[in-house]
Amino acid sequence: MTPEQARAALNAASRVAVLTGAGVSAESGIPTFRDAQTGHWARFRPEDLASPGAYHQNPALVWDWYAGRYRDVLAAQPGGAHLRLAELERRKGQGFFLATQNVDGLHGRAGSGQAGGRLVELHGNLVSGRDEVTGEIFPLPAPDELVTPPTSPRGHRMRPNVVWFGEFLPEDALADAQLAFAQAEVALVIGTSGVVYPAAGLAFKTLNRGGVVIELNPEATELTPHVTFSLRDVASRGLDTLMGPA
Ligand code: OAD
Repeated sequence: MTPEQARAALNAASRVAVLTGAGVSAESGIPTFRDAQTGHWARFRPEDLASPGAYHQNPALVWDWYAGRYRDVLAAQPGGAHLRLAELERRKGQGFFLATQNVDGLHGRAGSGQAGGRLVELHGNLVSGRDEVTGEIFPLPAPDELVTPPTSPRGHRMRPNVVWFGEFLPEDALADAQLAFAQAEVALVIGTSGVVYPAAGLAFKTLNRGGVVIELNPEATELTPHVTFSLRDVASRGLDTLMGPA
């Protein structure tokens, strides 16, 4: 497949599913996880910060890290890739589904999920907390008013509303994403290393049903050998190539 054929396939498809990872927010200045120099996991061990065991052992340390990331993402702005994906939803309407592994909320702020399609945050988000007793989700106070660990309106401690290593994804969000990828004529997989399951497995739902999977990433990934076509570029410019003029 050539870039022109990929663009034609995307243009013709009425059902489009998109999976995004940290790479779509790199151009907004948010660090990825696995990039050798700047990724979070180059500086911290995941099991020290993003696991139930770490939280149990040191909730203050874990909350400090999440509160810092919460501050950083609110200071960041949606980038070209977020904006173009919101535009793709406006073009496709109900046939559009965006599943993100990102917890930064930038897709929603760019307008995704607001033009007839769906946005699901498979790994949760940084802007809310979860009551440790009832499981209810509440927005966090503004970063400069946030006292950690925060307390829910029910009076219980809240944990970050994100999925940690060893935990399950929200069941409904995952089931809806799996269905959307199985039904998609074209799936885009953008800015993810494709190593974290079950999110990475979504691409195979499309491939197994004969759909086209287009990867957009400046580097080769674990998914590259399996996809229909890989476009080696940063997310914003690659979407310009695939979508044509705004
Ligand atoms: P990774 O850090 O594993 O991968 C980021 C990907 O983005 C890499 O493949 C980069 O090549 C690519 N990339 C970097 N800059 C880019 C750009 N400007 N445009 C497009 N792509 C670019 O991040 P994820 O795949 O999102 O999970 O990581 C998956 C999950 O692992 C995360 O959701 C997180 C982490 O542990 C949880 O916290 C549960």
